[in-house]
Amino acid sequence: VRADTLVLFGATGDLSQRMLLPSLAALHADGLLPEDLNIVGTARSDMSDIEFRNFARAALEKHLPAERRGPLADFLNCLHYQPLDVTTPENYADLAEKVGKDRQVAIFLSTAPSLFKPTIEGLAAHGLAGENTRICLEKPLGTDLATSREINDAVASAFSEDRIFRIDHYLGKETVQNLIALRFANILFEPLWNARLIEHVQITVAETVGLESRVDFYDDAGALRDMVQNHMLQLLALFAMEPPTHFDASAVRDEKVKVLRALRKISPGESVTGQYRGGASVGEIVPGYDEELGRDSDTETFVALKAHIDNWRWHGTPFYLRTGKRMQRRVTEIVVQFREIPHSIFPGAKVKSNRMVIGIQPEENITLSVMAKVPGIEQEGIALREVPLNIAMPDAFSGKEKRIAYERLLLDLVKGDQTLFVRRDEVEAQWSWIDSIRQTWAEEDLKPKTYGAGSWGPSAAIALIERDGSSWHE
Ligand code: BG6
Repeated sequence: VRADTLVLFGATGDLSQRMLLPSLAALHADGLLPEDLNIVGTARSDMSDIEFRNFARAALEKHLPAERRGPLADFLNCLHYQPLDVTTPENYADLAEKVGKDRQVAIFLSTAPSLFKPTIEGLAAHGLAGENTRICLEKPLGTDLATSREINDAVASAFSEDRIFRIDHYLGKETVQNLIALRFANILFEPLWNARLIEHVQITVAETVGLESRVDFYDDAGALRDMVQNHMLQLLALFAMEPPTHFDASAVRDEKVKVLRALRKISPGESVTGQYRGGASVGEIVPGYDEELGRDSDTETFVALKAHIDNWRWHGTPFYLRTGKRMQRRVTEIVVQFREIPHSIFPGAKVKSNRMVIGIQPEENITLSVMAKVPGIEQEGIALREVPLNIAMPDAFSGKEKRIAYERLLLDLVKGDQTLFVRRDEVEAQWSWIDSIRQTWAEEDLKPKTYGAGSWGPSAAIALIERDGSSWHE
């Protein structure tokens, strides 16, 4: 059932200003939001509807490109505001009144996870958690399996799983959804998608930013929990899963969870962590992590892992994962390294194994490297060279604007489609693997190695893959 009311907790926060309000305004401008949708913002500050609309206008002028804004006044008229302190029970009665009776409500919690429990209790006690409501949660959903279970239990006490929408904003990215299209709308790739033909897979999520304004949050989290637990494992699951029978919430998530549960516990020596020091990053001299933080810390800002999926399809194909802050270039990509040809009929010529690079951001393009004959006449045999077969998505779909990942997810939340949201068993399988890695680190007493800002991470990360005779794609 479609929601007719969307309640945003944390409506004045950073995510709301940068992503949620702009996404809603852009959807509205494109006529994609239901016309009668009421959006009720809540936060601690005391504001009237009018003041909240002015606040939202300022956020939109800052964060949404002018050409995507549409007639702003129309959108702003859908916005309402209710001041609310999540720990004050009476405030929920006011919110319930503002929402009104017999509404289909979608609630988005973009607040600190420590507030989830009191919020859910308040909602449940004031009739805002019934059959007609669904709830959406932002990360981080816990810091390990135990704390993520506590959050999941608290939510489950008031909402059934089919009404819980856990966000991983990578699933809202068009390019991530395109991975599903690439695999299951083409006959070409599926027969190759296994350990017999794929030698290894690399997943890189490199960022050039440093701590930004999230010093304390980040220092408690670190790269493994901030990026691998969620975004990277979702990419891995979509890449590696068996073909689902339908593109729907149960079928897709059933297949993803099988992959996540098949992840083997990492052995000592299969992970490298790093922390950046000052250096030149995208043309600018930037401080080191410890300088930004103002103290010493053992938190990793980089991690590289050699992962294995213990199932028939992937036995013998390692998945190398790496992510880091202050890396040389912002890039998210998946590299598929195919195996060598079984027998070469070209003596003297080097036949390089095929490789497919699936670029996810900032550029979306898919490149397949294939061997070709170099034109010309040789004394003997033929000369070979690797050439790219290139599909540049922006060219193929020129004229289509780039959407914010949250647009898709907010619309699906309003429509009630859970396909691109994370199910409880997935989150728990993700955490259980992450916990096992942290346990290995504790046993190994692994400390982050330093790397210069603007580099590709510590040299040990390069050695991690070179030991196996391969190298990171750069
Ligand atoms: C967030 C992390 O989930 O994802 C951030 O907390 C990170 O640390 C961000 O910068 C990356 O998202 P994107 O969409 O810019 O790749």
